Amino acid sequence: MLVGLGVCLPQRSVTNDELAQRLDTSHEWIHSRTGIERRHFADAGTGTVDLAAAAGTAALKSAGRSSCDLVIVATTTPDRTCPATAPEVASAMGLPSAAGFDLSAVCSGFVYGLSVGASMITSGAFRSVMVIGAERYSAIVDPDDRTTAVIFGDGAGAVLLEQGEGTGPGAVLGTELGSDGTGRDLITVQPGERYLSMRGRDVYTRAVPTMADSARRVAHAVGWGTEDIDAFVGHQANLRILKSVAKRLGLPDERVISNIGEVGNTAAASIPLALAWAADRNRLGPGDRVVLTAFGGGLTWGSAALHWPDIRPVHG
Ligand code: UT7
Repeated sequence: MLVGLGVCLPQRSVTNDELAQRLDTSHEWIHSRTGIERRHFADAGTGTVDLAAAAGTAALKSAGRSSCDLVIVATTTPDRTCPATAPEVASAMGLPSAAGFDLSAVCSGFVYGLSVGASMITSGAFRSVMVIGAERYSAIVDPDDRTTAVIFGDGAGAVLLEQGEGTGPGAVLGTELGSDGTGRDLITVQPGERYLSMRGRDVYTRAVPTMADSARRVAHAVGWGTEDIDAFVGHQANLRILKSVAKRLGLPDERVISNIGEVGNTAAASIPLALAWAADRNRLGPGDRVVLTAFGGGLTWGSAALHWPDIRPVHG
């Protein structure tokens, strides 16, 4: 059961116009191609650990809990290569002995984490699992590369999962995951390189059919038709991708959740940030049939179907 939701966005919000002052780009280009209006960048003293811990602490507060047994941090942008981020996050959250590990599935990391976390609970291995998607893409994006610098942002989002019976509000009903390593060079930080490169057009072409198929599969697996989906919360990479996927699923635009305008592409943090954005605006209500679908580097993709819980997100 999903019982808590917390998010954290760095304070500094950077508009398209601000980026256009030093890059050969424009608000018009960025907004019309992606839907993005602004994004948040962490300051130099704020790491992925800090964003993750703030979101995790907020998720505990949202659930009215003070601890959990396992912390999974999905991130593409750990502050260090070794050790993993999660143990430090757990300590920062005041959980001295919770288990913790990182999960690397780029923009699909949160959905992968949700699937792993829910399975850990179903198996009886853990009673409560915090799944955090946290990113500091500003650390791996070349500020002078207009093809990536305008797309990505920083942030974190977390959900708390606990044991629970039945299929009522909060139930994670099913997940499905996939990958295709032949696409590994489409979104990559090459060995020895500092910055990310993305073949955006190729990713776009692969993302639309793959996300639609994944969403359809998870809906059917839990006994829903796509028309039963009350809210489609896709990875916020591009508003045009989300609308194209929704069209393939036969969903009207009002069932598509998108906060990309305010936060840009925050990779593994994107879906929980979109969930909080929607819940804050009463676009999600208890019992709503929600499908989450992600696609990204790897290539990786995945979907989850759940009944929305009766919770309020907390902002850390
Ligand atoms: O999060 C993981 C998954 N990622 C995705 O799903 C990303 C999927 N891809 C996309 O969202 C889009 O491909 C982008 C938003 C990244 C790019 O949009 P596009 O419509 O596919 O543009 P493009 O890459 O085909 O570039 C079109 C033109 C090029 O110029 P020429 O070659 O036509 O002269 C680019 O150089 O736009 C140019 N361009 C820009 N112009 C102004 C690229 N970036 C910019 C920019 N400002 N920031």
